[in-house]
Amino acid sequence: MAEPVVRMEKISKSFGPVRALQNVDLVLNPSEVLGIVGDNGAGKSTLMKVLTGVHQPDSGQIYFQGRQVRFNSPHDSRALGIEMVYQDLALAGNLTVAENIYLGRELTKKRLGGLVKLLDHRGMAEGATRVLERLKIEIHSPHFQVETLSGGQRQAIAVARSVGFDAKVVIMDEPTAALAVKEVSKVLDVIRRLKEHDVAVILISHRMPDIFEVCDRIVVLRQGVKVGDVPRSHTNMDEIVALITGAQKEALHLCQEVA
Ligand SMILES: Nc1ncnc2c1ncn2[C@@H]1O[C@H](COP(=O)(O)OP(=O)(O)OP(=O)(O)O)[C@@H](O)[C@H]1O
Ligand SMILES: [Mg+2]
Repeated sequence: MAEPVVRMEKISKSFGPVRALQNVDLVLNPSEVLGIVGDNGAGKSTLMKVLTGVHQPDSGQIYFQGRQVRFNSPHDSRALGIEMVYQDLALAGNLTVAENIYLGRELTKKRLGGLVKLLDHRGMAEGATRVLERLKIEIHSPHFQVETLSGGQRQAIAVARSVGFDAKVVIMDEPTAALAVKEVSKVLDVIRRLKEHDVAVILISHRMPDIFEVCDRIVVLRQGVKVGDVPRSHTNMDEIVALITGAQKEALHLCQEVA
């Protein structure tokens, strides 16, 4: 089997008395869509914040493409191509689609022999169009203002921006929670596109149908402990819900037995 893109080993993290994560192992394989599920407070977001360097674990190791890494900030994880999709709140409504995609990494062009640096609006519009095409995000013009777009379209732009141009891992924490049903399918489509482009995706969601629609494998956290790690094809929603709630007491680990 190909080397995992990400391997987290025995990750523990407490906040004061709260043991948010206890010895959690997590593997993410190339081009895999991994679902992470669990009740409120189970530790899902914390695990992803450890992976992206927002939080440092109390103990445990992280490997990226086989090499041990230590992320002191999201900047470090991003430099390796691990991208967290922030929700549409992070998009600037009064800017255009292209400006949002390039926010923080604007293209510039030099004029007057390098004395003047100007924003390269055309270059950004072209680049944005290419990213949108690649992800099959249907937005007629990169010049549209983001505030005129639907929730699903905004979420897609947020993905396009995070994916940027060479993300290897994209993490989405509840990307569809605030969306109308018909908008959800657009986000799920984008996830499939990412997979086709060899990007590994981690999807956190409380919406079981979304998880079962796009994920290859499902990890279940309960009170900071990993209690399930199963291929989607070997499980069903009832079983996953039982793992989430604790109705099923025994952990179910069909994947990633001790390395
Ligand atoms: N910055 C923090 N400071 C203190 N406690 C925190 C912090 N972040 C998370 N926690 C606690 O850690 C536990 C895990 O929280 P986390 O946000 O990871 O859960 P979650 O699985 O993402 O839940 P949800 O589905 O509600 O988003 C919770 O008990 C939470 O209150
Ligand atoms: Mg959360």
